Amino acid sequence: MTSTITGSAADSLALRRSTQPDALVAPGPSAAEIDRLVEIALRVPDHGRLTPWRLVLIAGEAKQRWVERLMQIVETREDAGKTRVSTRKLTSAPLVVVVVSKPLPGHKVPEWEQWLSAGAVCMNLLNGAHALGYGANWLTGWHAYDAQATALLGLAEGEKVAGVVLVGSIAEPAPPRPRAAASDVARWLAM
Ligand SMILES: Cc1cc2nc3c(=O)[nH]c(=O)nc-3n(C[C@H](O)[C@H](O)[C@H](O)COP(=O)(O)O)c2cc1C
Repeated sequence: MTSTITGSAADSLALRRSTQPDALVAPGPSAAEIDRLVEIALRVPDHGRLTPWRLVLIAGEAKQRWVERLMQIVETREDAGKTRVSTRKLTSAPLVVVVVSKPLPGHKVPEWEQWLSAGAVCMNLLNGAHALGYGANWLTGWHAYDAQATALLGLAEGEKVAGVVLVGSIAEPAPPRPRAAASDVARWLAM
């Protein structure tokens, strides 16, 4: 029997790293690759089959205009010095996928579980981009919480930005970073 401890999918998942926003560059995924990426992203557990999330895809001229509008909002903020820098980091990646959490309030499936499902969509976008040979980075940032900025994405009452996932070709891979040791965070239950 072939071992599944190693193998291309296991090795690939074990080695995935986020790419720094400035190192995500054109070319981005093709239309067919974006379809595939979205297909992968949506294959997540979803308690109650509520589909408690939606995606906003941003590329091309719309992406340029989105960043310009964010920059205009930045200039009205007290923390413009800081947010100007973080907003510029959105410029490079050719594709942005905003994952919007839209839990059904008062449903028997707790909202927390519905938020987690949106987080799973973000993670599948990272792994999906990686599997397709692209880099990605899951951000939030000021624009995920600012009402004027979320209005640009058409967020409705009760919706939240779970992730602003940047996707592109990798100009420079990020070096490995320290990871939590399995022995520190994963323990067998002793009973
Ligand atoms: C919900 C969430 C929000 C994040 N928001 C930001 C952010 O706004 N700015 C930032 O620099 N990193 C942010 N990060 C962290 C980046 O994704 C970071 O690059 C990542 O943790 C790198 O680790 P990796 O290589 O293991 O993927 C966020 C991560 C998560 C899970």
